[in-house]
Amino acid sequence: MSDEHELETDCELVGIVAVADNDVIGKDGDMPWHIPADLTHFKETTMDHPVIMGRVTYEGILEALGEPLPGRTTIVLTSRPLETPENAVVANDLEGALEAAERAARKRHNTDRVFVAGGATVYEQLLPALDRLIVTEVHDDPDGDTRFPTWDRESFREVSRAEHDGFAFVEYARRERTD
Ligand SMILES: NC(=O)c1ccc[n+]([C@@H]2O[C@H](COP(=O)([O-])OP(=O)(O)OC[C@H]3O[C@@H](n4cnc5c(N)ncnc54)[C@H](OP(=O)(O)O)[C@@H]3O)[C@@H](O)[C@H]2O)c1
Repeated sequence: MSDEHELETDCELVGIVAVADNDVIGKDGDMPWHIPADLTHFKETTMDHPVIMGRVTYEGILEALGEPLPGRTTIVLTSRPLETPENAVVANDLEGALEAAERAARKRHNTDRVFVAGGATVYEQLLPALDRLIVTEVHDDPDGDTRFPTWDRESFREVSRAEHDGFAFVEYARRERTD
């Protein structure tokens, strides 16, 4: 449950990302790899929850799927006017995104968990507020134009790790805050 400065939410805020050994997470608006098991992992983990993402990531998903993530409520961060279908909501700032996500969590999904699904600009802003981080470590050094920001690993402890061929599913939980 985040209590990081003004970014308050009663929900558990969980980051989810696939990141390569060289910190690359994106290329040309898409992921630089195709790992079907990771897509399944993302779908199963986030299903029936609100998912906060930046406008660029949202547009990439629209291009790939033709619609926002099915079965979830997408909260799109953007400064632009944007028409969205019923299962997507526009937020113009972080506070608005957290409020919209919390509303969707309680009213639509009956959960207290909210996911933060990138891209880099959104991870960067919300990392300090995350309670948990679910990482697919991709054991590769691909070319890319978007990198996961440096994060305060000392504030998290690894709680699970499942190694697979070429990647690992790893979960981190924030250590007790001392501030
Ligand atoms: N590997 C992974 O797990 C993963 C996950 C997600 C994304 N990605 C990749 O990352 C890349 C996209 O990341 P990105 O960093 O370029 O873009 P992004 O974070 O998806 O979107 C950036 C946009 O979000 C909006 N935004 C961000 N913070 C905001 C705020 N506080 N208030 C209002 N609007 C805000 C702005 O939209 P406006 O310009 O409309 O104002 C900004 O231009 C893609 O290649 C994607 O495939 C990878």
